[in-house]
Amino acid sequence: MALQIQFSSLKNLCFRWIRFLSTCSAPELPPCDFIPKKHKTKLSRFEIEQIHRINLNPCLKTWYKKPVMLTQGYMQYVWDDSGNRYLDMFGGILTTSIGHCHPRLVETIQQQSTKIWHTSSLYLTEEIHDFAIKLANHFPEPLRCLFICNSGSEANDIAITMSRLYTGAFDIIALRNGYHGSTLSTMPLCSIGVWKFPLPTSFGFHHVTCPDPYRGRVGGRFCRDSLIQTNRHCNCIDADHCQAADYYIEDLQTVMDTVLPKKFAAMFAESIQGVGGVVQYPKQYIKRAYDLVKQRNGLMVMDEVQTGFGRTGTNFWEFQSHGIMPDIVTMAKGIGNGFPMAAVITTAEIAQTLTIGSYFNTFGGNPLASAIGSTVLDVIDDDNLQMRSHNLGNRLLKKLAKIRDDYNGEIVGDVRGKGLMIGMEMMLHGKPMPKDHMDQIIEDCKDMGLIVGRGGPLASVFRIAPPMCINEDDVDFTAEVIRRSIEKYCDRQAKQNF
Ligand SMILES: Cc1ncc(COP(=O)(O)O)c(C=O)c1O
Repeated sequence: MALQIQFSSLKNLCFRWIRFLSTCSAPELPPCDFIPKKHKTKLSRFEIEQIHRINLNPCLKTWYKKPVMLTQGYMQYVWDDSGNRYLDMFGGILTTSIGHCHPRLVETIQQQSTKIWHTSSLYLTEEIHDFAIKLANHFPEPLRCLFICNSGSEANDIAITMSRLYTGAFDIIALRNGYHGSTLSTMPLCSIGVWKFPLPTSFGFHHVTCPDPYRGRVGGRFCRDSLIQTNRHCNCIDADHCQAADYYIEDLQTVMDTVLPKKFAAMFAESIQGVGGVVQYPKQYIKRAYDLVKQRNGLMVMDEVQTGFGRTGTNFWEFQSHGIMPDIVTMAKGIGNGFPMAAVITTAEIAQTLTIGSYFNTFGGNPLASAIGSTVLDVIDDDNLQMRSHNLGNRLLKKLAKIRDDYNGEIVGDVRGKGLMIGMEMMLHGKPMPKDHMDQIIEDCKDMGLIVGRGGPLASVFRIAPPMCINEDDVDFTAEVIRRSIEKYCDRQAKQNF
């Protein structure tokens, strides 16, 4: 064991040296006053890797050549076991909404955990009511009635149940390239191959063409509700006459007329597709889809798991940008800043359907979760994080679009998104960049102190969605590191092809 520990610290030293060398010319991380606690190891790196291999399900994959072990977080920064600091521009997959270990949230957790942190919904607690009214007040009428639950998958599961019970119909429409969860009931809602299992789950679910203005069959210069448009050309004269929206709506209508029975339960959509690679639809698409669903008495369910809580900048919920009033909205991730919780909101009438039988979960809305949810909302409002997301998102979008244009759209094919939910689609020889090439860039970013995410059906999209407390220096640092990593990648490619 002693030998193993010695070897692992030697290896650690080597990695730190390599990182030091590769970062000699790297942009400097913005300053941070916070001093992380010294990490005391209970388990050696070797033991951790062994436990990971043997005792955790092998479906849990880690990123990077040498997986990064995080030991501390503070606001937009995280530290690894060797004390290296990183700017976390992925926020634990869009979940750390207000910042790691935000002092106000830490205080709430400390206080609540000395009062009461769990009891079931069989008893009244003040916390769930305080949270419920605060959250409901962030929605327009008639969305008033909440069910607080444990995960985004559960929230969508409940939405499936309610929409079927309410309409008395079974069939559900969803968009290709969408992601709504990994449970057996939400898996068929999803339409990204890697998130599917070869199991008979899809009965009653129908997917329509993803209205993707960049990669889809049709798309152009005015499609998106974003500062940055695709570099595709189209014949549309302006944003109000978007032929792409016409095209994709026609596809939806055809599916409704030919695949679905007259009566169906609901259409599900993310307000912006997240896991699918930050795909924004042509501006009028969701509004027109909503009108079609309503003509046929179906329900519209908007999945705000990634887009909610002010992240997209212009509105607190991104469905508001589409100009619709959904029947059901599901939310998770940013709701608890990393605490496992989620919620579904709907009208009083639709909510009644869950009383036909009994629906219960053990933890949803327990006092600790509710106190956390309540403080997260306070911080988003008090610190004006929605506006911050809007302004900083625009700053970053412009800088990334400049990188795209500097490379003539050949390496960075597309930059898109709203607020602090941004995607950067990478290309190689006119095709989505292969995974091993993406790995190189993401590794270089990490070595320069930047954590970014990735997504898309072929994992060729960089996803940027940090805690909303970042500042302008963080934005500039992010753009600079991405630029340098792409430069390095292009240099390597050029050398290889020489
Ligand atoms: C849009 C969307 N909906 C639902 C989910 C499922 O949420 P959870 O992982 O909390 O079950 C996710 C997770 O990534 C998501 O991105």
